Parts: sequence; C-alpha cells; structure tokens
Amino acid sequence: MDFKTASPAIGVGRKIYIETYGCQMNVVDSETVMAIMAARGFARADDAGSADVVLVNTCSIREGAEQRIWHRLDELAALKRRRPAMVLGLIGCMAERLAERIVAERPAVDIVAGPDAYRSLPTLVGEAFTGGARGVNIELSKEETYAEISPVRLDPTGVSAFVAIMRGCNNFCSYCVVPYTRGRERSRDPETILREVRELFDDGRREVTLLGQNVNSYNYELRITNYDGAGEETVAVDFPELLKRVAAISPLLRVRFATSHPKDISDRLLEVMADTPNICRAIHLPAQSGSSRVLDRMNRRYTREWYLERIAAIRRAMPEAAISTDLIAGFCGETPEDHAATLSLMREVGYEFAFMFKYSEREGTRAAQTMPDDVPDEVKTARLEEIIALQNELSLASNRRDVGREFEILVEGTSKRSDDKVFGRTSQNKVVVVPRVVPGSGSDEGYTLRPGDYARVRITGCSSATLQGELVQRTSS
Ligand code: 5AD
Ligand code: SF4
Repeated sequence: MDFKTASPAIGVGRKIYIETYGCQMNVVDSETVMAIMAARGFARADDAGSADVVLVNTCSIREGAEQRIWHRLDELAALKRRRPAMVLGLIGCMAERLAERIVAERPAVDIVAGPDAYRSLPTLVGEAFTGGARGVNIELSKEETYAEISPVRLDPTGVSAFVAIMRGCNNFCSYCVVPYTRGRERSRDPETILREVRELFDDGRREVTLLGQNVNSYNYELRITNYDGAGEETVAVDFPELLKRVAAISPLLRVRFATSHPKDISDRLLEVMADTPNICRAIHLPAQSGSSRVLDRMNRRYTREWYLERIAAIRRAMPEAAISTDLIAGFCGETPEDHAATLSLMREVGYEFAFMFKYSEREGTRAAQTMPDDVPDEVKTARLEEIIALQNELSLASNRRDVGREFEILVEGTSKRSDDKVFGRTSQNKVVVVPRVVPGSGSDEGYTLRPGDYARVRITGCSSATLQGELVQRTSS
C-alpha cells in the first residue's frame, strides 16, 4: 500500500483516546500507538467524550471478546452522533480479522488498522479529518517490530511495564486465531529492547515483563562490526541470552516474561533463571489440557508426559518457583476421561494460578475447519466450573504453605481495601498486602512504604487470592 505521509503536526491541538481490550501485548501496542500519535502532536484525552480521535484496540481470542467490542462500537457510534467531528478507529486483532464486516456494518467507524499497520495511523487519521474515504490497512508484515519506538506508557507513574520483544506466532495451535491476526513470528532487535528497559529503569520503573506469544523462540541475528579489519560478523541472541542481558541492567530491576510454550522451554533458560536472582521465580506455562490425545488434536506438539518432565525440570532448577497455566475446557472431541486428565494434571503440578476458558470456535482455524465443536455448552460450563473450583483449592493450599515464611516484595501501590495498607508482589508473583506506615522506636523514625520500594515481609494470613503480611525490613528504595 502506498501512503501519502500525514503532516508532521497533524495532531497539534487535538486529543486522542485509546481503549484497550485483550492481552498484555495489546497494552504495549496501545502504548506504541500513543507514541506514534504523540510524535505528531496529539495529546492524551482522559475519556472518549473529550477526544478528537477514539481508537479501540481489539481482541479476537474468543467469541465473547468480540461480542463486547461490537457492543462497545454501538455506544461509540451513539457518541459520534452527538460529536460528528470525532474520528473513530478500530485497531488490533479484530480489526485484522473482520475489517470487511466492520466497514460494511458499522458506518461510524472511519479507520480500520491491523497490528502491523500502526505506523500508517497518522495518515489514516489525517485523511479522516479531511473527510476522505474510510481508511483500511490490514497488511501484515514479516519484519515490523516497532523496534525503535519507545511506547508512551498508559500509567505514567507505574512501577512495572510491559516490553514487547517479538511479535506474531508460528505455532498454529488448532484452536487459536493469533497466527492469523498477528501474522508470522519475528524478533525485535535486542539493542532496542535493552535501550528501552534502561530508559524505564532510569525513569523509576522497577519491573519489566518481556512479552511475546512464545518468548522461548526469540532469536535475533545481531550484526557486529569489527574495526580490526575482520569486517562484520553476526551473533545470535536467543531468549536466555536476552534475559541475562536485560537482568544485568540492575539488580534492582525485576524481570518477568510471558508466554512460554512448553515445547520450547529449555534447560539453559532454567539455568539462567536459577543463576540470576532478579529474574522472577514465576513461570507461566500454558498446558491447555492434561490429555495427550487432546494436546495432539490441539497441535501443541507435546504430550502430558513431556509437559510433566518440563515441570520436574523447573522444580529441580528452582524449587521455589511458582507455576501458572492456561486451560481450555471442552475442546472438540474432549471426553469425560480427557477432562479428568486435565484435573489430574492440575493436582499433579499444583498450579499457583491459572487462566481458565471455555473453548470458543474461531473461524478459519484448523479446529474450525476440521473438527466439530461437539461438546455441548452446558458440558463446557460444568467442566470449566470444576476446573475453577479445583484451581481455587490449589491456590489456597499454595498460599497457606506461605504463611509464616518471609519474602521480598516490590511495593506497587495502595491496597484496594484500605488506604492504610500497600500491596506488592513476591518474586513468585503473589500479591501481599502490608501496613503502609512502619512506626519507629527510640531514635528510629520509622518510615512509609512507597511504590518502587523493596521490602522483606513475613506472611501472616491469606485467602485464595492474596497474602497478608507484616514488614520485617525495608530492603531498598
Ligand atoms: N477458545 C478458548 N480459549 C482460547 N485460548 C486461545 N484460543 C482460544 C479459543 N479459541 C486461550 C488459550 C491461550 C489463552 C491466551 O487463551 O488458553 O493460552
Ligand atoms: Fe492478544 Fe490474542 Fe486477543 Fe490478539 S487475539 S489481542 S494476540 S489475546
């Protein structure tokens, strides 16, 4: 597609609002779009009602996610009837997947842009301002990583930030729409990643989460120029190496990552984690199912036994690590025995946490094309409820084991329940609530915990969702 370039100052005096649905990658994408638009002079609006441009960053992962957005589009169309000059754009996965239908069925939408088309947004918005044709760009790219763009963070004072290290996905799990909406996998230049993380740290952030659909297959051929006459050589940077370099930025920076595919989680990654205390002891390893037969139909390319061997490898390397997962209930052809295998896998691993879903058929995927969606909805619901009930039990049991133990937390903010308390997370990613003010005694003045502080806490109580603690010592700030 050939784009005229929008005027550099297209956004001066105008405001933009971005509403974000879906995954963490979408949060970073919205922040990247904000950076692209801010570079053209756009300021950020606090709500859709006061914005000149409203962008909705959408998700297609399940039918329910898309339903919510269709509904939201009706509300925004009503807003636009009251404010006809407002430009309305749909971006992200659903824009990529359903561009034609959106254009046909939602006349209020001026712009449709897929995940690899964000650099063209100033131009598309500029054309919409001048009343040109409705702009659609859903071209996917093999190269685009928005590498050099520093996202403008949606929470300017937060302690933690997401950093995209790759885009797209090559795995083609049979249920999943992501390879179609986000295109092929590509890794971002590590030097731009390190620069971005350093800037975040210098800005006061104390935690980054490196994001990709499958971070374990991160791989970048870095070109290095030798000035001794040997010319150029290339060095491959893989995920363990990248992780090591990011963690080396400062011991006061916590590093997390998501998501790992079980088939690719390597012993070297586990070694690097075990050797590096500021890489968090939390691994999100989506199992999807505990039945090898279902895993095969899902095209996951591992078996239950392989998965359990990887869990054993994690436990050997880091006995203190928390393990979380994603599970799908009621995939095509799932029998009661397959479902029982998922429950038994959950018990065997003893997950700290899980995201749990009912299977939702997505048009165009291998499952939709070749396997009937034959588990009745009531059965899916009943199975999901069993999975959720078991996970609550496992989370509570895990939290109870923590009572009496000490952990270091990174303080994030004020507790939702009480202004007198703050919350932070352990390296295992569990939320701990502790009193904000630590009274002094004698010549010790005491102190108030602030976001970004590290503190040693002892766990005194818990529910299935949170730990309560008391302060042992503030370790650094
Ligand atoms: N139906 C239900 N859940 C899905 N997921 C991905 N595709 C589907 C689908 N079609 C879940 C998987 C994945 C998480 C991000 O969403 O568990 O790991
Ligand atoms: Fe994220 Fe997947 Fe939803 Fe796209 S479809 S926004 S990649 S969860």
